Amino acid sequence: MAGNTRWGPYTSMKALEQRGPLVISRADGVYVWDEGGRRYLDAHAGLWLANVGYGRQEIIEAMHRQASELAWFSSFGGFANRPSLDLADRLVDLLRPDAMGAVFLSGSGSEAVETSLKLARQYWKVQGHARKVKFIGREQAYHGVTLGALSVSGIPANRTAFEPLLPEVRHVPAPLRHACRFHAADAACTLACAEELERTIVFEGPETVAAFIAEPVQAAGGVIVPPPEYLSTVAEICRRYEVLLITDEVVTGFGRLGSWTGARHYAVRPDMMAFAKGLTSGYFPMGATAVRGEILDTVRDSAGAGTRPEFLHGNTYSGHPIGAAAALANLAIIEQERLPERAAKMGRHLRKQLAALQSAYPAWIQDVDSEGLLGRIALKTPPDAQDAGSAGQRAVDHMREHSGVIARSVGSVLTLSPALTVAPDEIDAIVTAAGDAIAAVCRFGDASGS
Ligand SMILES: Cc1ncc(COP(=O)(O)O)c(C=O)c1O
Repeated sequence: MAGNTRWGPYTSMKALEQRGPLVISRADGVYVWDEGGRRYLDAHAGLWLANVGYGRQEIIEAMHRQASELAWFSSFGGFANRPSLDLADRLVDLLRPDAMGAVFLSGSGSEAVETSLKLARQYWKVQGHARKVKFIGREQAYHGVTLGALSVSGIPANRTAFEPLLPEVRHVPAPLRHACRFHAADAACTLACAEELERTIVFEGPETVAAFIAEPVQAAGGVIVPPPEYLSTVAEICRRYEVLLITDEVVTGFGRLGSWTGARHYAVRPDMMAFAKGLTSGYFPMGATAVRGEILDTVRDSAGAGTRPEFLHGNTYSGHPIGAAAALANLAIIEQERLPERAAKMGRHLRKQLAALQSAYPAWIQDVDSEGLLGRIALKTPPDAQDAGSAGQRAVDHMREHSGVIARSVGSVLTLSPALTVAPDEIDAIVTAAGDAIAAVCRFGDASGS
């Protein structure tokens, strides 16, 4: 062991032994600093989450006040703390257009997803539909790391080492606008990928399918922006076959697409929504599963007259008071600064800049796409490439080393997800850094890049 006692998440420990970690020690706005004092423009909001930016004193002070008064107490049984009650009220109020009636608080996105899956099964069981247990997820989806959340996820590399996963899970294709497997690139979209959901439900038998889970825009799968009518089409299929629709809003929640939620962005009312990340902008780990009021009523009323808990599920840190205080302060900023509207406006700027980038490097860029402040630059991979992802990794390494910009790659796709407070000139700097990196690392095809 070369001194690596910390086993990092999704981290190559071999690479770490050679290069050591980049230790980030300070952050402010959209910038972070390493221990050596070098500043980086964070084009990824950490990990798709610092929606309000770093160093917001309102949140830090709210957490400090709460920690001084009550740092934690159990929320199990009949106990509660005031900030968690206030947060639940606030979320239900904010999510009124999405028709949510209650929230279950947890500690992460994986837990928020896991909660929704367990609740979906129980919801059908208590109504006598004992066979309605299957989940349908999508290829290239990322829903988290717990075995249930991983089972509905669709990134094979993340799954293989842990198989067998939950057996009663099926996957349908992702809505890949730029690489559609159903029709030629220049043909009009027929939403055949959405029809695959219907075909799968019918094939499996609707009486066996509990829920379909979908990220409104698939983030970790490579920022897959669906055709505009996709989500409403799958929502209608779910409604028709009495399959619950769970939107995984862990990335899309709280403004990123230019609307408060991804479901609202695409004019859909799901049955449940899983949140985390932007809920506190990363100031505290927290997840939340929002449900239609009828789901809570059904589960509660099915339990008869006793006082046994109806939903035997909960995390020690459910409704953590410091997390709830952070979330309330964070949501206040998002509302006061109208960050969803800002994300829509800045998103239009990002889209324009990405289109210009693609025109500058048509030989090296496969496609660009974005929705709000979630963007992708897909690189062409050399025909003889051993590893399709290496160009992406080399490009983000170049961006970091030469331009001081932190982005992330998913295979050969560069993904962008800056804080919603990002300024136009910062977006320009991010896109310029990406262009410089592409010119430097894409040494194949037409050398001029055009
Ligand atoms: C869409 C989505 N769902 C769920 C998760 C899991 O969240 P966490 O890492 O907080 O468990 C993530 C994490 O990136 C995510 O992107």
